[in-house]
Amino acid sequence: MQEKLFIFDTTLRDGEQSPGASMTREEKVRIAKQLERMRVDVIEAGFPAASNGDFESVKAVADVIRESTVCALARALERDIERAGEALANAGSGRIHTFIATSPIHMEKKLRMSPDQVVEQAVKAVKWARKYTDDVEFSPEDAGRSDPDFLCRVLQAVIEAGATTLNIPDTVGYNLPEQFGALIGRLRERIPDSDKAVFSVHCHNDLGLAVANSLAAVLNGARQVECTINGLGERAGNAALEEIVMAVRTRQDIFPCDTGIDTTQIVPASRLVAGITGFAVQPNKAIVGINAFAHESGIHQDGVLKSRETYEIMRAQDVGWSANRMVLGKHSGRNAFRARLRELGIELESEEALNGAFARFKDLADKKHDIFDEDLHALVSDEAAALEPEHFKLVSLKVCSETGEIPHARVVILEGGAERQAESDGSGPVDASFKALEAIVASGAELQLYSVNNITSGTDAQGEVTVRLAKAGRIVNGQGADTDIVVASAKAYVHALNKLHSKLERAHPQV
Ligand code: KIV
Ligand code: ZN
Repeated sequence: MQEKLFIFDTTLRDGEQSPGASMTREEKVRIAKQLERMRVDVIEAGFPAASNGDFESVKAVADVIRESTVCALARALERDIERAGEALANAGSGRIHTFIATSPIHMEKKLRMSPDQVVEQAVKAVKWARKYTDDVEFSPEDAGRSDPDFLCRVLQAVIEAGATTLNIPDTVGYNLPEQFGALIGRLRERIPDSDKAVFSVHCHNDLGLAVANSLAAVLNGARQVECTINGLGERAGNAALEEIVMAVRTRQDIFPCDTGIDTTQIVPASRLVAGITGFAVQPNKAIVGINAFAHESGIHQDGVLKSRETYEIMRAQDVGWSANRMVLGKHSGRNAFRARLRELGIELESEEALNGAFARFKDLADKKHDIFDEDLHALVSDEAAALEPEHFKLVSLKVCSETGEIPHARVVILEGGAERQAESDGSGPVDASFKALEAIVASGAELQLYSVNNITSGTDAQGEVTVRLAKAGRIVNGQGADTDIVVASAKAYVHALNKLHSKLERAHPQV
């Protein structure tokens, strides 16, 4: 029988460590449900000791997810492990993931601990975790720069203490594929009880090698890969789930194992994560970029029309791009709308959410003739944002923009239920709108990023805007979509202001 490759998704934990990607409890639950629908084996939901908010998020995910294992991260400290155990109390299947650094530089400079002390702490941590669950994962942080002999010693000790998964992180993305694959092979050969645990890998993308390193590890016996949707994660990110899953599936001639992922849920998951975090997917991103299956050159188009396999190694619909992308229009009814959402793997929580989304769909259909699947995804993300408790709400926006005249904006918002308005000039209509919003809110935040993508093609397409604001060391991303890009921009700015207003401080697990 073919071996199973376990997929461990850490979008909600390492992915959330991307600057600006922090998520609310409701957002995490929404993503977790989509990961479960996609049949991810393990969902790392967060780091409960980081903050009360993160504890509540992990608990909320553990309370509702039944098909996937829910995992909580904990440093090798008794208090962290206790919090992780408490957050997972209601999980159908719960895992504690504990870690301590093992590289010379981390032990000496960060932990100020000797190698003997690190081994002792790692063993204690695994034993503490085993009081809460039989499913315990251990990571020697910065394994990619650790001494392999020392790794063998720590890993054998934690297996004896009860660890069932050994995760080998290339924390700083330093390794090369051949080297990292060989490390996994060597550890499996040299650790006496290596067959008593599943070997896992967790690769960062600092050199753009996270996926290549993970796949090299799989070819050397790793049977769990830790990854994130769209490759989100600390610094340059983690290995992208969609790339790992599709590489293994497409090259079954090479890999002796396969995942249990429902690949048709990949694109919906990608869109959901992009919408919630505000991290737009680059158009040429493998698998989930809008151009991933688009053929521009005449020779390619001709080849694909004659035989798809001439230039395509995967089918777009197998990863969730639908074959029939023009779906609904002005005359489509509520049932057709609901049915199409279901086909796209979008489940709305309540009738109220469906009604809200349908009303927005009708508004959009008045402005735009053809409604594509991409529009539906954006509309539903917008709807979910609208259902979140909002401190600021955009009521109306009026902009004047004329050649030779200074652009001007007038904006009305609700702040905590009270209507407030302001006007401002600007260098363009977007600048004027943001200045008018700041005249009301006075957030003092720095605008770090402003980007516009069209969701589909054509001048009637919706523009999807991402705004990144930074204030007092916190960074948030806001998103907004509309056929009018100035309105989309104002929505995105207000979304980011709401995030700045609502999100709690959280500690970083690796600091
Ligand atoms: O990159 C890393 O080392 C981590 C560990 C906590 C597994 O994220
Ligand atoms: Zn990491």
